[in-house]
Amino acid sequence: MEKKTVFSGIQASGSLHLGNYLGAIRNWASMQYEYNNYFCVVDLHTITISQDPSTLRAKIREVAGLLFAAGINEENSVVYIQSEVKEHSELAWILNCITPLGWLHRMTQFKEKSETQKEEVSVGLFDYPVLQAADILLYDAHLVPVGEDQRQHVELCRDIAQRFNYRYGQVFLPPEAFIAPFGGRVMGLANPDKKMSKSEEKQEDSISLLDSPDQIRGKIKKATTDSLRDIRFNQERPGVNNLLTIYQLLTEKNQEEIENHFAGKSYKDLKEQLAEVVIESLRPLQERYNELTGEQGCLEEMLARGAERAGAQAERKIRQVQESMGLR
Ligand code: TYM
Repeated sequence: MEKKTVFSGIQASGSLHLGNYLGAIRNWASMQYEYNNYFCVVDLHTITISQDPSTLRAKIREVAGLLFAAGINEENSVVYIQSEVKEHSELAWILNCITPLGWLHRMTQFKEKSETQKEEVSVGLFDYPVLQAADILLYDAHLVPVGEDQRQHVELCRDIAQRFNYRYGQVFLPPEAFIAPFGGRVMGLANPDKKMSKSEEKQEDSISLLDSPDQIRGKIKKATTDSLRDIRFNQERPGVNNLLTIYQLLTEKNQEEIENHFAGKSYKDLKEQLAEVVIESLRPLQERYNELTGEQGCLEEMLARGAERAGAQAERKIRQVQESMGLR
């Protein structure tokens, strides 16, 4: 049987954090053997919010390196940078011309992001989900593994694909979101009522995948808890619940085992033990990252091969799209 195709993307804004890892990248690495995979560093999405050029250049490389370090490999997956495959922008424009404005007005992530941006809000930020749809549809992806926050964007992509097919014939495959049952929404450490995010001003909220052991211990130590004492999974107690959830995701123990383990222990014990679990879980990833980026030119070569493989598929698909619409 032919393998199905997986596509997913990740931005190069800020540092990759534990939420990206547990909600997305770790699943990409473990799923990759069953599928044909495309994992893309979406730098064109990243610039929908203003970025400093030299920081952006470094972050694109860092994110790509972390994908390989997390276990995604060239045998099973194509890893590449979005702007190196020009068909992403080309298809986004075409899809812009068939997407009703009202569909984009409903996107909750735009509403949230534009609130913090105010007058700085760009047309690109508004159009972000259409570029995301182009990413996915270029590769005939069946499945899109993402965190919970991306469900609406993948549903929009399905709607755009169906609208296009209705007008021009069966060109696109409407994809489905794949959201892991656990880890789809890791919360901030200091503000556990908000998701862990990449933004630089919320550093105390997120553990970066490249944080040192001392940084990890410091951030977890300061994490918000509550005034109760018992250590239990309970959504009504977001701080403790989030720490336990991260512990669970990394140790793969069940909730009862974890509650028994922490019975009679203090929040200080929970935080100290969680910090050690996080440090040990990230250690192999950090070591691989240092090896890979320490070897001159190695990452660049891998990314060039990725762009070439992705480009071949993207070129085939854009031709099919153009032919269906009368552009060829
Ligand atoms: P980005 O870079 O914001 O997030 C990358 C992935 O990490 C997941 N994620 C989380 N999961 C759990 N808990 C969290 N706190 C958390 N924060 C982030 C996101 O859901 C995502 O899966 N729009 C995409 C990038 C993109 C894309 C695509 C994805 C562009 N084109 C095509 C899939 C297919 C994004 O927000 O990435």
